[in-house]
Amino acid sequence: MSTILITGGTGLIGSALTTLLIEKGHAVIILTRHQKPSNEPNITYLVWDLKAQTIDPKAISSADYIVHLAGAGVADKRWTNERKKEIIESRTQSSSLLIKALKEVPNKVRAVISASAIGYYGEDKKTTSKKISFTEDAKADTEFLGETCRLWEESIEPVKILGRRLVKFRVGIVLSNDGGAFAEFKKPVQFGIAAVLGSGQQIVSWIHIEDVCRMVLFAIENENLEGVYNAVAPTPVSNKELTLLLAEKMKGRFFVHMHVPKFVLKAMLGQMSVEVLKSATVSCEKIRSAGFSFLYPTIESAIGNLVNEKA
Ligand SMILES: NC(=O)c1ccc[n+]([C@@H]2O[C@H](COP(=O)([O-])OP(=O)(O)OC[C@H]3O[C@@H](n4cnc5c(N)ncnc54)[C@H](OP(=O)(O)O)[C@@H]3O)[C@@H](O)[C@H]2O)c1
Repeated sequence: MSTILITGGTGLIGSALTTLLIEKGHAVIILTRHQKPSNEPNITYLVWDLKAQTIDPKAISSADYIVHLAGAGVADKRWTNERKKEIIESRTQSSSLLIKALKEVPNKVRAVISASAIGYYGEDKKTTSKKISFTEDAKADTEFLGETCRLWEESIEPVKILGRRLVKFRVGIVLSNDGGAFAEFKKPVQFGIAAVLGSGQQIVSWIHIEDVCRMVLFAIENENLEGVYNAVAPTPVSNKELTLLLAEKMKGRFFVHMHVPKFVLKAMLGQMSVEVLKSATVSCEKIRSAGFSFLYPTIESAIGNLVNEKA
């Protein structure tokens, strides 16, 4: 049994990961900004404060592994300058605090697994007829999300100088019934509307929630795993394919199919609309070659599971 500290463990991925780790017999410490009571003997909540740069030292001294997920939600609010600053600093300042604590508090932490996102990559190249997927050696995009992910990944790098193993996952769009993008995709479908975004041709590199959690566990258990890996399923799909398949699984033939025009998305989402309209085809070959196998490799298997789970 190991003790795993999860920063941002109250969120979408952290909650599902906590359940998986507990099932596997591990103990979990959730590092949060707000103290919470725990009803489960193997889950403890401890507090940190990024502004004050303070952290409960027990979080570090008790942990065998750290999973770093904390960060202000990228799609939760419009991207004002203030919000952009919060999105970046919640990630970089939390990494700095972890590094500082790892230096100052005697500990036995063996590895740090940090989230990043496929927002690291830019837009698929339009000029080539051959499909090219982004691999881990690509350069970071210079737009807001690319820059955010670059700074986020850089901020956690000093873990290596401290002699600890570091794994970074560039996570794709997580499909889960409990929140995130998939819950948003489902809302119009519940009313019989398959709402395709823009042209719907843009490629979505997605991953099922169970697979992203299994991948984190794989990184904890596999001492040879080190460096950056894309956490996406092997079969990216277009927004249109995803939306129509979801509508079919949820409603059979009883739905209407409509396109939400780009200008409506821009009015609704502001600068963030770029992200739902962007096409990013991302490769999972590196993590597959390292021995990871997906429970949900196809969009049919992932959506089929999620729709049945809720039924
Ligand atoms: N879900 C996806 O599709 C997806 C895709 C790519 C990358 N990721 C990345 O993976 C990580 C986990 O994703 P998630 O979907 O589980 O995120 P989430 O549901 O938004 O949870 C993130 C957690 O971070 C903490 N947090 C929020 N705002 C914060 C702030 N300003 N300062 C410090 N901590 C803050 C919160 O924990 P407390 O309130 O308990 O402190 C929250 O539960 C995130 O960094 C996200 O960007 C997610």
